[in-house]
Amino acid sequence: MRLSTYTSALVAAAATCISAAAVTRSVGSVRTVYTFPPNTFVENIAVRSNSNLLITASSADLYSINPKAASPNATVVHTFPNANGIFGITEVAHDVFAVLTGIWDFAITRAELGSLAVWTVNFNTATPKVKKLTGIANSTIFNGIVRHPYNPRLLLAADSAIGAVWRVDLLTGDYGIAFQSPLLAPTETGSLGINGLKAAGTNLYFTNSAQGFFGKVAVNSQGGQVGSIKIVSNSTTGIVFDDIALDKTGSKIGWIASHPAQVIGVADNGSQVVIEDTAKLLNPTSAAFGRGDLTQAKTLYVTNGGEFVGWDLVNGGIAAVVVR
Ligand SMILES: *[C@@H]1O[C@H](CO)[C@@H](O)[C@H](O)[C@H]1NC(C)=O
Ligand SMILES: *[C@@H]1O[C@H](CO)[C@@H](O)[C@H](O)[C@H]1NC(C)=O
Ligand SMILES: *[C@@H]1O[C@H](CO)[C@@H](O)[C@H](O)[C@H]1NC(C)=O
Ligand SMILES: *[C@@H]1O[C@H](CO)[C@@H](O)[C@H](O)[C@H]1NC(C)=O
Repeated sequence: MRLSTYTSALVAAAATCISAAAVTRSVGSVRTVYTFPPNTFVENIAVRSNSNLLITASSADLYSINPKAASPNATVVHTFPNANGIFGITEVAHDVFAVLTGIWDFAITRAELGSLAVWTVNFNTATPKVKKLTGIANSTIFNGIVRHPYNPRLLLAADSAIGAVWRVDLLTGDYGIAFQSPLLAPTETGSLGINGLKAAGTNLYFTNSAQGFFGKVAVNSQGGQVGSIKIVSNSTTGIVFDDIALDKTGSKIGWIASHPAQVIGVADNGSQVVIEDTAKLLNPTSAAFGRGDLTQAKTLYVTNGGEFVGWDLVNGGIAAVVVR
């Protein structure tokens, strides 16, 4: 996530020399769905059951895009107060999404202390109902967020700064640290530790961008760590792992949006399939499978953070990749 993070995270990856498991390169079919105006850093994605993509970016606006339209366009669902960016987004109940807003400081890749807030956006009514759940007083970054894999009351959030997973009670708004580990922490050269966060079964799946791996860990009903954290697959030199889409039907556990131009499918044994497209995958920040019909379910929607041309960040947007 985030502009200047590109450089710090890339340096971290280059400095880490790791032996990878089997890596297969493949050319996927990649198509551009939508491109935002310049200087929009596109950050995260969630998909509604009606197929519409919900997109967060370096903006106080939450966007919706119908990927099935002849020329998809972004409409604004809601504009949040006290925010210059929306970070994580995840579905917490049918057509109810939690989103994380804050005031981001690009120079230090952290939000202003006290600015983070968790909201819910409920699409079950004709006009989406937006509600503030709570402000977060004592974290500077909630990056990936996900509903607890089996306790519907809890939202879990990846703190890339202190290397922790936080829990937020979706009913009361109470929050605190669920667990913390050196394996979730950033490094001296990479400012973002745990980044993407997804849940399935009794496990959390996550990426650590700075340390360069995709891992998994079991959690108890309160989100606490159970057993040890397993490193499933390491990133290779020059690749920085960002957010993840879990793959519930294929031979992969998930697909990792990776900088500078990849989505990487990872199997349980750590083997990787790399789909690379230097023209259409532009610093991918997150990914999610389409929903609503079979064609959508085969399509991985990838958010492109964008690329710098001089001082301008351009071509932030959405790409569609057929991965199966
Ligand atoms: C896309 O949406 C924006 C904002 O609502 C609007 O200004 C623009 O005209 C739309 N473009 C197309 C091609 O419909
Ligand atoms: C953060 O603030 C919450 C709410 O005041 C408190 O319960 C929790 O202990 C604090 N956690 C940390 C790590 O400071
Ligand atoms: C990942 O890298 C670490 C550190 O170099 C190494 O100990 C571990 O065996 C690697 N794991 C996999 C699954 O490749
Ligand atoms: C790892 O799993 C993948 C997907 O199931 C499979 O194609 C591959 O052969 C396996 N590799 C090894 C070394 O077992």
